Amino acid sequence: MDSDNTNKRKILVTSALPYANSSLHLGHILEAVQTDIWVRFHNLNGNECLYFCADDTHGTPVMLKAKEDGINPEQLISEVKKDHMETYELYDINFTNFHSTHSDENKKYSEFIYNKAKEKDLITRKTIKQLYDEKESMFLSDRFVKGACPKCNEEDQYGDGCSKCGATYDVSDIKNPISALSGTKPIYKNSEHIFFNLPKQANLLKEFLKKSDLQKPIVNKLSEWLNDDLQQWDISRDAPYFGFNIPSEIDKYFYVWLDAPIGYIASIDNWANSNNKKIEDLWSKDSEYEIYHFIGKDIAYFHGLFWPALLDSADLKLPNGIYVHGFLTINGEKMSKSKGTGILAREFADISDPELLRYYFAAKLNDKVEDIDLNLEDYVTRINSDLVGKYCNIASRCSSFIKKNNNELTEEIDNEFIADIVLKKDLLVNHYNSRNYSKAIRLIMDIADDVNKYINDSTPWKKDLNEAVEIASTAIYAFRILSIYLSPIIPKITKNAFGFLNTEKNSFEDLDLAIEKPINNYTPLLNRLEPIEIKKDEPMNDNNYIDIKQFAEIDLRVAKIVKASNVEGADKLLKLNLDVGDLGERQVFAGIKKSYDPQDLKDKLVILVSNLEPRQMKFGLSEGMVLASSDNEGIYLISPDSGAKPGLRVK
Ligand code: 2FM
Ligand code: ZN
Repeated sequence: MDSDNTNKRKILVTSALPYANSSLHLGHILEAVQTDIWVRFHNLNGNECLYFCADDTHGTPVMLKAKEDGINPEQLISEVKKDHMETYELYDINFTNFHSTHSDENKKYSEFIYNKAKEKDLITRKTIKQLYDEKESMFLSDRFVKGACPKCNEEDQYGDGCSKCGATYDVSDIKNPISALSGTKPIYKNSEHIFFNLPKQANLLKEFLKKSDLQKPIVNKLSEWLNDDLQQWDISRDAPYFGFNIPSEIDKYFYVWLDAPIGYIASIDNWANSNNKKIEDLWSKDSEYEIYHFIGKDIAYFHGLFWPALLDSADLKLPNGIYVHGFLTINGEKMSKSKGTGILAREFADISDPELLRYYFAAKLNDKVEDIDLNLEDYVTRINSDLVGKYCNIASRCSSFIKKNNNELTEEIDNEFIADIVLKKDLLVNHYNSRNYSKAIRLIMDIADDVNKYINDSTPWKKDLNEAVEIASTAIYAFRILSIYLSPIIPKITKNAFGFLNTEKNSFEDLDLAIEKPINNYTPLLNRLEPIEIKKDEPMNDNNYIDIKQFAEIDLRVAKIVKASNVEGADKLLKLNLDVGDLGERQVFAGIKKSYDPQDLKDKLVILVSNLEPRQMKFGLSEGMVLASSDNEGIYLISPDSGAKPGLRVK
């Protein structure tokens, strides 16, 4: 522990808030790991570093996903939050607090900041013309408009860009626009919107870019935008919208990107309230805390321009730094959120130990905005060569000598050899602090190489027990320091290493402490990885075989539709009452309305997943799922041949 409190840095750290409409993919994990290592490092190095995040819950995609699932947005975001928190936990992401933007604290701060901006004359109004879906009674954001690309004529492109020729364009230029929601032709409609006067904050932003800790290419890009034609920022959306009402307005909501970053403050406030702290001591102009945001390069605009401008308008402290990383590619291929080609973080955790991915990401991460590739062959090689072959090898080859000495280390060690390793701390601290984790790992593995060479050269197996114990003790001391050095990156493995070493004080200040108690018997900290095989051109999740036992766990039954009916307030759902033989009657809500008339379904045989966890929907309880396939043209229920009896098991 740092005894000198005056040197102790106090730091608030955030990573970007994931959207609450889908599960986390490995890109989210890359960012969380980068942030978590930095936070752990600071805490182990005598600073106080707190890490906050939350789910980003508002906006049209969340609203529509909930509608599609037949649940309230509140239910969707609570399910997704649970999923997100569990997934982060798998990767050992150690948040101080994980909150939600759909919270009282966030509402309070969004209103507070907005009102302050209003007082400072930074809020304006203007009527704008926007595409409107008359069938769904809603304005369409760019991603809900489809049409032909104005440059290359490719059909079926989104309103903001073409996936064929890469052109970006204004939604008003797209040819033959249709609404992606209803498939109908949208009209143009006027609506008054509320704007934040960003150009008025230009000087403040120029200062911010000069003073803050930002990477050079990011400063350049932000300056370009800033010196370009800076526009007023549209911060309102019309109903229907899942978000916060704008004070003193009717049916106007804050745009999701207004309240998303405010969610950082909300998460801190939520934590402060239950930990006897005051938000003013954490995030305010006079607070001692430094503030850093870790984000991906796609959202630099929001964090580098809108966010500081908003904070300043409310007289709140601006971030000290924004640390931007590149995208994650997998085996050289771009992951795409919209195409769903990313690997889900939960799926990867089933294939390989998440802790090892932390190591691999760290081995590739630096302070640049470069993309990072996860190459699965390289991943296996790297883990086996570094962690198994170099680091763990030290403990495994030396522990047998110590065991012969009743597991006691001797004080007669090679102090000079150990002192050299301790001396590397300053350089290592620099690498961690500057987020050059790849350099940190290179340095640590060079030390591990030196230790293995020391053991080879000293040949303890040829020596008498006393001498062998001296050599092995020196190597075990070195192993302890290496474990401390690695602990921000692989906290679980190193925790087990400290268990083996029987030591409790394991921070960066404790490198010199003697290991006084006998150590424990060595059990392998890590086993060699087998190659991870993925068929080319196939997304990883499709290649994740299940075995026959897993298949047998799905209870598929023949069921007869006794009654099918429309559900009031649901555009896509039909309610099905099913006869499932010996399982009795079941009620299921199925998203098949677009292709089926309820009257035609009576007595139809279908296949029911009968042991799916029942789901409470807005319209009632759904007790299972009927199987169907679908394409752009329609939905096709799967039916057994006639004669199959309700309740029969499908095998
Ligand atoms: O791009 C995204 O995934 C956003 N949900 C990030 C929000 S970060 C912050 F501003 F809240
Ligand atoms: Zn095009």
